[in-house]
Amino acid sequence: VIITIDGPAGSGKSTAARLLSDRLGFFHLDTGAIYRAIAYLSKKADILWSDEEGVEKIALNIDIDFIKDGDRIKVMANGEDVTEKIRTPEISIGASDVGRLKRVRAALDIQRRFGNKNNIVAEGRDMGTVIFPYADVKFYLSASVEVRADRRYKELIKKGINQDYKRVLEEVRIRDEQDSNREVAPLRPADDAIIVDTDRMGIEDVLNFLEDEVRKRWR
Ligand code: DC
Repeated sequence: VIITIDGPAGSGKSTAARLLSDRLGFFHLDTGAIYRAIAYLSKKADILWSDEEGVEKIALNIDIDFIKDGDRIKVMANGEDVTEKIRTPEISIGASDVGRLKRVRAALDIQRRFGNKNNIVAEGRDMGTVIFPYADVKFYLSASVEVRADRRYKELIKKGINQDYKRVLEEVRIRDEQDSNREVAPLRPADDAIIVDTDRMGIEDVLNFLEDEVRKRWR
């Protein structure tokens, strides 16, 4: 069974995907973490995020693992624990930058492999449109840019990363613009996606709604 959750930064899809996969006993595939890890490894190897060939090599050779560790998921990239390192504002932009590159997206067939082996909740930007067009249930989460920036801001503060709200808003705007207007796999809802506007919804409301929709279609 494949459930996809797409949406822009701060739409609540990561939390929703994590909790929904817990409730259903499914594997949580966080594809944003893959793009983030590629941005991180490129930077570490002094490869510019605009260097399509260089970043493609990283993407083709990346060994990525998601390991359950209590109630969180550890992200391992080429044997290194990158869980926290890939969550900085700088790497967020880097992930969006490398996500624009056609050859990098093409190199990421590993995403589909997770779906061959497991029941999954897959989250990202193009899960329902490109990677799993045959998914069983598709969701698209959205919210206004201010609400999403506010969520990201609070998340960063909670992690001890001190950021100016205006900078976070700017980062979310840049990513919205880049992720929605790129040539390959731009962010948009699949024609058959259920659209959920989370502006006025708490995470519990979102989760209950998603779970109800899934159980209506699949038991
Ligand atoms: O979901 P996230 O914020 O962790 O994603 C980080 C960036 O990675 C996002 O701004 C664009 C890119 N990305 C992508 O292009 N395609 C995906 N399926 C997931 C993420």
